[in-house]
Amino acid sequence: MSTSLSFIGHISTPYVYIKDCPRNISPDGPECKITIDKSFESGLRGLSEGDHILILYWLAEAKRDYLEDGKKGTFALRTPHRPNPIGAAVVPIIALKGNVIIVRGLDCLTGTALLDIKPAIYKENNQ
Ligand SMILES: C[S@@+](CC[C@H](N)C(=O)[O-])C[C@H]1O[C@@H](n2cnc3c(N)ncnc32)[C@H](O)[C@@H]1O
Repeated sequence: MSTSLSFIGHISTPYVYIKDCPRNISPDGPECKITIDKSFESGLRGLSEGDHILILYWLAEAKRDYLEDGKKGTFALRTPHRPNPIGAAVVPIIALKGNVIIVRGLDCLTGTALLDIKPAIYKENNQ
């Protein structure tokens, strides 16, 4: 079984530098654009505005670190620095047209690679 990943698109946000990224997602943040590669566009069938989606993205500039001390361990935190630097966010779709999804308030650098999208199992305050 191969363990390689393929990116399916990319995320555009207002953030060019890590220092400008918000610490985490925020429902009232700026609009962000998720562009799916054209070859995967048909995979969006069945999603519509207002649906909550789980977005998985690759935090390429993170350190592949593992926290062995401190009050909380890596897996009790949302730190980008982890053995597999996968970012996750549950957000509602603001707009969906063709291969582009608009959402609000992502926390990643512009150009961040997209790994996957799934319909979210969403409960208020329990992502
Ligand atoms: C705390 S992580 C949370 C990511 C995701 N919302 C999660 O919970 O898995 C968000 C931080 O990752 C960092 N970050 C954003 N984009 C990144 C990238 N492309 N590579 C490495 N770090 C990134 C920024 O410091 C940002 O504040």
